[in-house]
Amino acid sequence: MRPLSAFRAPLILLLAALCSCLASCGGSTNSQGAVSGGQPDPGIALTQVRFITPPMGWNSWNTFACKDTEAIIKSVADAIASNGMAAAGYQYVTVDDCWVGGRNPTTGQLYPNATTFPDGMQALAAYVHSKGLKFGLYTSGGTNTCAGIAHGTRPPSYPPGVGAGSLGHESVDAQTFANWGVDYVKLDYCGGSLTAFPAMRAGIAATGRPMFLSINPYSANPTLPTNFASDGTLYVPAYADMSRISQDISAKFTSVTSIIDTSAADAAWAVPGYFNDMDMLEVGNGMTADQDTAHFVMWAMMSSGLNAGNDVRSQSAATQALLTNTAVISVNQDALALQAVLDTADSSGSLQVWTKPLSTIGTRAVALLNRGTTAAPITVNFSNLGLGGSVQATNLVTGANLGTVAQSLTQTVPPTGVVLVKLTGTDPVAANGALAVQSWIWSAVQSGTVGVKVFPGGSPLPTGASAAGAIVVHGKNYIDGMTVNAPAQLVYRLNGHCSTFQSDIGLDAAAQGAGSVDYQVWADNIELYDSGIVTSTTPIKTVQVSIAGRNTLRLVVTDGQDGVTNDIADWANPSLVCS
Ligand code: GLA
Repeated sequence: MRPLSAFRAPLILLLAALCSCLASCGGSTNSQGAVSGGQPDPGIALTQVRFITPPMGWNSWNTFACKDTEAIIKSVADAIASNGMAAAGYQYVTVDDCWVGGRNPTTGQLYPNATTFPDGMQALAAYVHSKGLKFGLYTSGGTNTCAGIAHGTRPPSYPPGVGAGSLGHESVDAQTFANWGVDYVKLDYCGGSLTAFPAMRAGIAATGRPMFLSINPYSANPTLPTNFASDGTLYVPAYADMSRISQDISAKFTSVTSIIDTSAADAAWAVPGYFNDMDMLEVGNGMTADQDTAHFVMWAMMSSGLNAGNDVRSQSAATQALLTNTAVISVNQDALALQAVLDTADSSGSLQVWTKPLSTIGTRAVALLNRGTTAAPITVNFSNLGLGGSVQATNLVTGANLGTVAQSLTQTVPPTGVVLVKLTGTDPVAANGALAVQSWIWSAVQSGTVGVKVFPGGSPLPTGASAAGAIVVHGKNYIDGMTVNAPAQLVYRLNGHCSTFQSDIGLDAAAQGAGSVDYQVWADNIELYDSGIVTSTTPIKTVQVSIAGRNTLRLVVTDGQDGVTNDIADWANPSLVCS
C-alpha cells in the first residue's frame, strides 16, 4: 500500500515536468565520481499537500462541553470576527460533541439536536461563513460519540443523540457535512474503529469539498501506543491533516508540559501537510499569565493547530492580547512548517531550549522554556543551531529588540514561563557535492541519532550527527551517506541555487534482512519523490530529482506500515548539483 500518495492529490503535470527535467539532468554520476545504482527510480506520482500551515480557530469543548448551543456558537463567531482574532488568523469555528440529535433511519443522515441547534447545521454554517469564518463539526469514529461513551450512562443533562457516531456511515456523513458547508471535520475515536479515519478521508475526497480532517485516535483508547502516527497498519499522515497525540488537555501546567514532551517524541512523523495536534488551547482558562504564554508559545513552536478553547466573548485583555499576538502566530504559521525540536536542557530537564527554523534563510524561532518553580537564566548557543555570523535577536512576545549578539543569548525566564526570541544570523547553505559532509538545519529522529559516514575519512561531521558504521546496502559499500532509524527526517537549506538531488536508497545491512520503510523527498512542501514500501529485499533504488529553484530539501524515511523495528535505512552517496 502506498503511504502518502494514495490520498494526496496527484500532480500529474508536475510529474511530467519532472520527468522531462530528469531526462535532461545529465547522468547518474555524483560529484565525487561515484556511480549510483542505475536508472533513476520514478517513484510515486508527485503530491501536493492539502494544508501547508496548521489550522487556527476555536472549539467549543474546553469551555462548553455538552452545553454548546447554536446561540453560543453564533455569539462566539461574532466575537472572533470583531475582536481581532479573525484578523490574527483564527478561521474555524468548530462545534464539538453533543450537537447530534440522532440518525434518520430512512435517509441514514445525522441530524442536529432540535432544542439546542433549532435552525440546523446548514444555517449555522451559513451564519459562520457570513462572518468571514469557516465552520467545523465534530463526529466520532465509533457508534457513539465520546460524550456517549466516556460517561457511560448519559447524564440526564446531556441531550439525546450523543449515541450517533460515524462508524460505518463515513461516506454519508462526509456528504452531509459537505452539503451543510462544513470546512473542518473533527473525527474522534471513543470506542470506535481505526478504520473510520481512512474511511472518512475517502468520504471527504468523494465530496470534492476540501474539508480539513482532524482526528483523535486517543479518546477512550488508553491502549493505543504513545505514537500512533503509524500503528504498523495505518500511516496517519496519508489521510489525516492533523492528529491528536495525547489524552485530553486540562488547564494545568503539568498537562501542558506532558503534551509538549509527547509532541517532541512525535516530531519525526510530521511531514508537510500533517500536524501533530497538541489539543485545543487552555489559554484564558485559569492558568497564570506566564503559564498561558508558555502554553501558547510552545503550541506555536511545535506547529500544532491553534484552536482556542476559552470563552472568547468574555476573555480578559491579557488573554486577547496573547491569542492575537501576531509575532507568535507567525511562528506557528511559518510556511516551512517545521515542528520545534529540543536543542538543550539542563540536567534537571526543567530549563530547555527549543528551536524551530523559519522559512526565511538565517532565521530561527527559539523558545527558552522554564518548567521549574524559580526564575532562571537560560542560554541558547548559536553554534548548536548551526547559526553563524552576528545574530540579531528579538523578543517575539514583547516585541523588544534584544540587539545584535555573538555566539549565545541568555535571558532570565520566569518560573513555568517562556521567553520566545527570533534569531537572524547566517545559515549553512547546501553546496555542490556530497551531502553527507554538509550541515542540515533541522533533524527529527524518533530513536537513536543520525549516523553519518563521510568521505574523505576524517571530514568533520555535521552538527548533530554521530559517526555511522559502514554504509552497506545489499552487500554494496558506499563511500558516504546517512543511516537513520525510521521515522527520521533531515532538512537542508538550498536557497534556490541547486538543480539536482541524487541518492541511492535501501535498508542498511544492520536491518538484518528485516524492516520496511518509505522514503520521501520533499522540497518546499512538494513531495518530489516517494519510494513506496522498501524492504530488505527491494533492490537498491536511485533517487534523482530536480530541485531547481527550491529553498529547502527535506529527506524523510518513515514506517513501511509494519512498525519501525529494524527500520534502519540509508541515504547512500547522497549528493547535490549546485551552482
Ligand atoms: C474526547 C476528545 C475531546 C472532546 C470530547 C467530546 O474526550 O478528546 O477533545 O472532543 O471527546 O466528548
